[in-house]
Amino acid sequence: MNTLIVYASVHHQNTEKVAKVMAEELGADLVPVGEAQPETLTAYDLIGFGSGIYGRKFHKTLLQFVKGLPAVTGKQSFIFYTRGGREGQGHAALKEMLVNRGFSITGEFSCKGWDTVGPLKLFGGINKGRPNAEDLEDARVFARGLKEKYP
Ligand SMILES: Cc1cc2nc3c(=O)[nH]c(=O)nc-3n(C[C@H](O)[C@H](O)[C@H](O)COP(=O)(O)O)c2cc1C
Repeated sequence: MNTLIVYASVHHQNTEKVAKVMAEELGADLVPVGEAQPETLTAYDLIGFGSGIYGRKFHKTLLQFVKGLPAVTGKQSFIFYTRGGREGQGHAALKEMLVNRGFSITGEFSCKGWDTVGPLKLFGGINKGRPNAEDLEDARVFARGLKEKYP
């Protein structure tokens, strides 16, 4: 399956590390959201959307990009994110936007990411070193599952 990953990773490139491993495993094209156009998606059947979580939301540039997408038919998608805190922030909103535009959602991945926002930076942040080798292996296993499902 022709696969594209569109991502935003602005804090410590945490999500970019995950995106690169997934792209490698899937043989996917990898595009920062700032370089993606809605038409870019035309050539792909499976599209991954990922970013860090900022103020309990996916990055605004990714949300704006999805908001600007036309309705699609027959496209699968997956979402992924890195986060300082708990799992599940902002994911329902992104999924709803994708479903409203006609995407099927086939999977979701997240892991912790180094977070030095605000006062956290005073003591080196939280989740230092994350995503770590184990997180990236989890991301690889997730991507391998997609590859097996959509060869
Ligand atoms: C401005 C800002 C706001 C953040 N807000 C949240 C948040 O609401 N919840 C959370 O779990 N992590 C939050 N984080 C932590 C990031 O989600 C985490 O560091 C993530 O791995 C960053 O990904 P990136 O390096 O790919 O940008 C925030 C980070 C920044 C810079």
